[in-house]
Amino acid sequence: MTPWGVIKTIIFGGSTLVFFFILWFYNPFKHVEHYEVDEEVKEIIENPWKKVDEKSGKTIADEGRELFIQRCAGCHSLRYDGIYVAPVQADPRWKKVEQAAGRPVYRFGVLYKDRFFVPRDVYEAFAHEVLESFKSSFGQVPPDLSTIYLARGEGYLYRFILNPNEILPGTSMPPVFAGPSAKEETAKVVAYLKSVNTPPPQEQTKRAIMGVAVILYFVIFGALFWRYREVVLRRLGYH
Ligand code: HEC
Repeated sequence: MTPWGVIKTIIFGGSTLVFFFILWFYNPFKHVEHYEVDEEVKEIIENPWKKVDEKSGKTIADEGRELFIQRCAGCHSLRYDGIYVAPVQADPRWKKVEQAAGRPVYRFGVLYKDRFFVPRDVYEAFAHEVLESFKSSFGQVPPDLSTIYLARGEGYLYRFILNPNEILPGTSMPPVFAGPSAKEETAKVVAYLKSVNTPPPQEQTKRAIMGVAVILYFVIFGALFWRYREVVLRRLGYH
């Protein structure tokens, strides 16, 4: 390579790196609020798949799901995990809709036969009156929380659920957990929301291995094709 070629490579390579660094890791133009999870409950959100009871195999996420059904499903659905607002869940006709229009939840390699994902339009048509009554009581329909973890992140969710008014002044969502166990229960619910949107550790390892395998495939076949190109060029009389 000529010296000019080296300089060009450095300029192009360097500016590409800087561009993606700004895009993905540090964007000085974007204002980002930081919300912190309290130290004492950080560990709960860290690993939602940790077993809390060896015998039954119950995890932190399972506990969070129970809390969610008891304390949040009065207003919120979480369709990706087969949770619908309480008045709908209590309607005897709903089971039939689940069977007819839904399909069992399948996530990260696990099939949950007793949870049904029902398409949004079907659910909203069935729940129309309930959702309208929420709208008149709260000013808006409490959102479905299927992907809220991806949208907001754990710090925001933790602070918001613990004290909604501190994060969204004037919001119609009430604080749900109070008393000495409030932080712990909030952390469990956040851990649950996280478990719906992020693959568990063994799945993450599997994906990382697959990623490396795909890159290796490209490198090896790239090298083979490069060699083959030489052969073709020689045959055509270029070497
Ligand atoms: C009494 C009804 C009610 C209950 C119970 C309730 N919420 Fe809400 N929630 C709302 C309403 C209404 C909103 C919309 C608030 C807004 O945008 O101002 C909301 C919004 C949210 C949001 C979205 C915040 C955002 O930034 O967009 C999250 C996350 C949330 N709730 C989580 C929960 C969790 C977790 C629970 C259970 C621990 C819960 N909620 C219990 C009514 C409720």
